[in-house]
Amino acid sequence: MGNDLDHVLFTEDQIHARLEELAAEIWADYEGKDVLLVGVLKGAILVMADLMRALPGSAPMDWMAVSSYGSGTKSSGVVRILKDLDTDISGRHVLIVEDIIDSGLTLNWICSNLRSREPASLEICTLLRKPDAAKVDIDCRYVGFDIPNEFVVGYGLDYDERYRNLRDIGTLAPHVYL
Ligand code: XMP
Ligand code: MG
Repeated sequence: MGNDLDHVLFTEDQIHARLEELAAEIWADYEGKDVLLVGVLKGAILVMADLMRALPGSAPMDWMAVSSYGSGTKSSGVVRILKDLDTDISGRHVLIVEDIIDSGLTLNWICSNLRSREPASLEICTLLRKPDAAKVDIDCRYVGFDIPNEFVVGYGLDYDERYRNLRDIGTLAPHVYL
């Protein structure tokens, strides 16, 4: 499986170290507030698992699953909710936990949907962001790493549902596509 990677961008240790930093920042920013972590399935599962364990205190979590209408790996921005939150977020401090922001279209839709439920606050934490791929401006408060506009897998990120279980994050070798 590791041979299917072209090159590793971030090792498991680098990811964990960065999430520790973000967790400390988040905990300080939300001091005295009950922050609800909202993960987006499925890519964010490992970010959520490691980020929440890096927090020095307890924080509840919830999940939503969405599917983006569109062809192939391109996001269209037209989104359908496959699984909604279990929690009523009205009046709550919500922090969205994401794996990656690419065009930003999916997250843009999720944010306006969640905002209509009138949370006390709404912020985003993403492990990865591709600044060169942005089609909409997303105000993301916590960013793990900015990366080039390349397709990456591992640590929750998939190619056709595979490679989510890779511990590191890297680009796929060309032979995988062929
Ligand atoms: P948008 O373009 O709406 O896309 O920001 C967000 C979703 O698309 C997936 N995505 C990726 N998945 N490697 C992946 O494994 C990538 O490089 C990549 N870029 C986008 C991902 O599900 C993300 O939530
Ligand atoms: Mg995702």
